[in-house]
Amino acid sequence: MTQPQRALPIILAALLLASLACQTVIQPLAEEEATPAASSTSPGRPSPAPETPPPSSSGSPLCPLPESPLTEQETRPVNPPHASIGDPYAAELGNLGYDVQRYTLALRLDPARPRWVCGTVTIEARATETIDEFALDFIGFALQSLQVNGEEAEYYRTAGKMVIGLDTPLASGEAFEVRVTYSGQTKQVQSRFVPFEESLGLFFPSDENLYALSEPDGSRYWFPSNDHPRDKALFRFEITTPAGLMATANGLLQDEITEDDATTWVWEHAYPMATYLATVSVGDYVEVQNEVVNGVTLRSYATPGSESLLVEELERTADAISWLEDMVGPYPFEAYGYVTVESGGVTLETQTLVTLSTFMIDEAVLVHELAHMWFGNWVSLDSWGQMWRNEGFATYFEYMWGYRDDPQTFDSEMDLLVQTFKISSGYEPLNDLSPANLFGYESYVKGAALLHALRQEVGDTAFFDGLRLYLERFGGGTASDADFIAVMEETSGRSLDNFFQHWLEE
Ligand code: ARG
Ligand code: ZN
Repeated sequence: MTQPQRALPIILAALLLASLACQTVIQPLAEEEATPAASSTSPGRPSPAPETPPPSSSGSPLCPLPESPLTEQETRPVNPPHASIGDPYAAELGNLGYDVQRYTLALRLDPARPRWVCGTVTIEARATETIDEFALDFIGFALQSLQVNGEEAEYYRTAGKMVIGLDTPLASGEAFEVRVTYSGQTKQVQSRFVPFEESLGLFFPSDENLYALSEPDGSRYWFPSNDHPRDKALFRFEITTPAGLMATANGLLQDEITEDDATTWVWEHAYPMATYLATVSVGDYVEVQNEVVNGVTLRSYATPGSESLLVEELERTADAISWLEDMVGPYPFEAYGYVTVESGGVTLETQTLVTLSTFMIDEAVLVHELAHMWFGNWVSLDSWGQMWRNEGFATYFEYMWGYRDDPQTFDSEMDLLVQTFKISSGYEPLNDLSPANLFGYESYVKGAALLHALRQEVGDTAFFDGLRLYLERFGGGTASDADFIAVMEETSGRSLDNFFQHWLEE
């Protein structure tokens, strides 16, 4: 069978269409308010939030609001100490003073209850210096309890942060555990980086489907975290859904416990992961694949109606993994697959389990997301402003796969693209993208062209040796553009200053 070959991948076309269709509206981050709470009417039944009553559901497990929620104890100025991890492109994200080891997300979610979330998130962390307070990124919800090492702790909320005070300071290196119990409806605020989506976080497209889409700054709208790729951690999920629906998440399904009319789905991922890649989907899912190939568990889940298309595309997954492994080294995680979601046209490379729009079940998209497992997920961005190393790599391998049986056409098409960017000045510099253009043409296509130009510049051996070295050296963590450049200079044995100055700064 011949593969359809496209100059512009569907993923990009969808992106461009979306950005044309939507106006760029950048909203400032709203000041925090606690979700107003109503007292429970009867035990076990939810109390509707005053402003948006949730639709009734068929006796599914729900999120009662706490009878007396903890409200914000105080409002203090923005910029509490350490409440930024120091990414110059997104200073509002992440925090210093600690290093998260593991998140456990024990959440109750029901697609028929739009935007409702409740549960407990446990964060196991280690202090990286002596601290008497620390911040988490978290927006919205009513808090029922906030404990540090089993004791109720003082906190206040301000501009996307929850700042927690400690009676006894933590010494550098000391392990500690934070437990946050919360409930309410997600806030919907547009990300300044994603003007083509109304909001980020959890999406509830139908009574039978919900999913997360957090890149780059949406995790804080559904769970408290150190919301930046510089602080990766392990994840465990205990997601309770109405019986009959399935919850999927990153890693491997460990357990499935049904009690009365609810099922808890336990998933665990054994490799470090950035918060924006943490995912959960709930649906009437059909498992369409479950096999171990070369030590990697391949499992995928389809919403009703998307099974046959997905099954057809999955035929090439194992081949695509070996194809990439031959070029850049071993697949980095324990599992891989796709979960389809009823999204309008957004797909995200959520680690080990890609969140795939039912409108984008397409070979080019599947390979693009697969390439992200190495580029973006295993080696993550040190700064969000360097997005080309996520999207440029994924796009380059997507193009390469499309033309894998015709390398000559691949070369001439890529040459054309490289020339376009060499002579045109109508594009933003890759190292100075405006926030609303983070997921635009430059990150994807100029990024891919840069990689092709680099390969021509240093030759295949130095190029692919460099990619493997980059993955070995920074795998499990993050890397910067400077790290990438240093690796390529190492394998090519020459200075690439001029090359990168042209491609990144012009
Ligand atoms: N990283 C995604 C991709 O594979 C694009 C996601 C864009 N949407 C978003 N909400 N960040 O190309
Ligand atoms: Zn991508």
